[in-house]
Amino acid sequence: MNMIIFDTQQELDSYAAGLIVNKVIEKPNAVLGLATGSTPLGIYDKIVEQYEKKKVSFRSVTTFNLDEYVGLPPENDQSYAYYMKKHLFSHIDIPQDQIHLPNGMADNIEAECVRYDFMLEASPVDIQLLGLGHNGHIGFNEPAVNLSGGTHPVKLKAETREANARFFASLAEVPHEAITMGVGSILKADTIVLVVRGADKAEIVKEALTGPITTSVPASLLQTHARVIVLLDREAGRMMK
Ligand code: F6R
Repeated sequence: MNMIIFDTQQELDSYAAGLIVNKVIEKPNAVLGLATGSTPLGIYDKIVEQYEKKKVSFRSVTTFNLDEYVGLPPENDQSYAYYMKKHLFSHIDIPQDQIHLPNGMADNIEAECVRYDFMLEASPVDIQLLGLGHNGHIGFNEPAVNLSGGTHPVKLKAETREANARFFASLAEVPHEAITMGVGSILKADTIVLVVRGADKAEIVKEALTGPITTSVPASLLQTHARVIVLLDREAGRMMK
C-alpha cells in the first residue's frame, strides 16, 4: 500500500486528478470507477480543468459509479446520477452511453444488480476512486458479519443516513436503501485510489489501514489488494505518522 499525506487540499486534489488523467492519457479507453460524496469534489474540478486545457479526452472512457440511492430518479438533485452530471460528466466529452450508475429506479432491484455486475465483468475497472465512511464503509458496504461480493441492495444504517443528511433538506428525505458495488467487485479493480480528508476520519483511517482485516471495517479488506494508493490530508493522516 502506497500512502501519501498532503499539506494542502490543492495538492491532494491535483495528485488524485493526475492519477486519473494520466491513466486516460496512457489508455484512452480506460475504465474508471467513480465515487460521490464530498471527498472527490475537488478532484473532479481538477479533472475538468485538465480537460478544458485540452490535456485529455474522455471520448473513449467508460465509467462505473460505486453506488446509487434506491428511489431517486436521475433528475433528483440528491441522486448520484445528478451529482456526477453536475460535477463531472456535463463538463467533459464522455458519451452518455459510456456512463454507468446502478439504476435506483429499476422495477427489479435484484435484476439491476445482476445487470450491473455483468457490465463490470465485461469492462474491468482500471482505476477505482474511493472515499471512506466514518464507520469504515466503502461504497455503501456497511460494517456487517458477512459482506456481499457483487453489486447488491443495502438498507442504509442510521449513522450513514445521518452523515448524508447534510446534503438533503431533512433527514426524512434521505432514502433508506441504496444499490452498491460489493467489496468483491471493488477489489477487482486494477488500481484503487482511496482518498480521505478530515480529522474526524483519522481514527478510522488507522483502523482500516493498520488494524485487523475484518468485515466490521469493510475498508480493511483493501489491505488484501496489491495496488492501493492512499491519499490523505494532514488531518486524516494524523495517526499514521
Ligand atoms: C460515495 C460512497 C461513499 C463515500 C463515503 C465518504 O459514492 O461510495 O462510500 O465515499 O461515505 O463520503 P464523504 O466523501 O462525503 O465523506
